[in-house]
This record gives sequence, C-alpha cells and structure tokens, in this order.
Amino acid sequence: MAPAPSGRRRSRFSPLTRQIFLYLFGLLPAVLVLAQGMANMLGPNPVSACLHEFGRWAFRFLLISLAVSPLRRFAKLDFMVYRRPLGLLAFTYAAFHVVFYAGVARHFDTHVLWKDFTSRPFLTFGLLTFLILLVLALTSTRRAIMALGRRWAKLHKLVYVAMILASVHYTIAFKTWHVEPFIYAALAAGLLALRLVPKQTKRVA
Ligand code: HEM
Repeated sequence: MAPAPSGRRRSRFSPLTRQIFLYLFGLLPAVLVLAQGMANMLGPNPVSACLHEFGRWAFRFLLISLAVSPLRRFAKLDFMVYRRPLGLLAFTYAAFHVVFYAGVARHFDTHVLWKDFTSRPFLTFGLLTFLILLVLALTSTRRAIMALGRRWAKLHKLVYVAMILASVHYTIAFKTWHVEPFIYAALAAGLLALRLVPKQTKRVA
C-alpha cells in the first residue's frame, strides 16, 4: 500500500466502498435486535423493546455523526468521509423506530395515532425530528448537493435542530424518572456547544 503524498497511508478501498461498508456494519444492531425478537429473547413485549432499541440507535448515530466535525477540528482525527453513512444510519434507525411504532404497535390506525399525538407532546418532537432527518437523507445524494449549491450547507445545518428536538423527545418520553435520556441530552448539548467555539483566524505576519 503506497503512502499518500501527505505521509498518511492511503486506504485500499475507495471512499464510496468505505461508506458502504460502514453503513452495512451499522445495520448489524438492527439485525441483532430483530433476531432476538424473533427468538423471543426481548422479554414480554418484543415490539416495544424493538421500538425502544431503534429509537436509541437513531439517537446514537445522530450523536456520532455530529461528533465528526469537532473530532477533526479539535483532535485532528479526520472521519469526514463517514459523516454521510452515519447520518443515513440515524435516518434508517429513525425510520425503523417510526415503522415499529405506527405500523407494528399501532397498526396504522389513524384514530389511535391521532389520540396518541394529541395526548403525548413528546411524539410531536419525534415527528419533527423525523421529518428533518428525512429531508437531510433525501438531499444527501451527489446530485442534490450539486443542485442545491451553497444552500445545501445551510439546509444541512438543520441537523442541529434535529439533535435538539430528538433530545426533547427522548427526555420527556417517559412518565417516570430515567437518567439515560439526560446523559444523552448532555452529550448532544456538549457537541452543539463545540460549534460555538470561535475559530482562530491566522494572523498575517
Ligand atoms: C414520528 C416520529 C417518532 C415517533 C412517533 C416516535 C415514537 C416514540 C415512542 C412511542 C417511544 C416510546 C415512549 C414510551 O415508551 O413511553 C419513543 C421513544 C424514543 N424515541 Fe421516538 N419517535 C419518533 C421519532 C424519533 C426520532 C427521530 C428519534 C431519534 C433521532 C427518536 C428517539 C427515541 C428514543 C431515544 C426513545 C427512547 C428509547 C428508550 O430509551 O427506551 N424518536 N419514540
């Protein structure tokens, strides 16, 4: 393997191949959860267990995708090539989560769904997060990037809004006290706060 001009070793695989590998690897938790569900290993309510697992994985991948830029800026670790598959994984798990809720748990019964949405505000935060992730996933293609030009970067700043909405969705989802959502929300707040650190401008001698 020849070293890249910068001195770093160049990967044997193209960026696209690495992105596809990461995406497929990221789907393993879903396969595992579904396999456990089918083997009756997820307790008395496997549908709810899957729904919860998928929600947590969506949140985790959203967090990891938001960590990519700060890692490059503050730790000089460049995983930029993996940002797109990480974002797509967040969207994929969010879609599994929504399908399990609306389809498997609620059988797409619009009356029940309406009752749920009007009585449990955390669902509205989840829906808004999902809609943002959907828009970001649809505009993550090379063609969309070219078509949107400068507006693409502006549009994709919506990921910060999605992170805030997802944190609210998670922290108010439960009727009883859980510490985990607050830990996740604190991580999200930390990652968003790093964006506010001013960039140092190089002084011309
Ligand atoms: C239409 C969109 C959504 C709906 C209808 C929805 C619905 C739900 C429901 C019904 C629960 C279970 C709450 C309970 O047991 O009382 C839940 C939990 C959760 N949702 Fe969502 N959700 C949506 C979008 C999202 C998105 C986009 C994310 C993440 C990016 C997410 C992350 C979570 C998490 C982390 C939990 C808690 C899981 C746990 O720790 O057990 N949800 N959601």
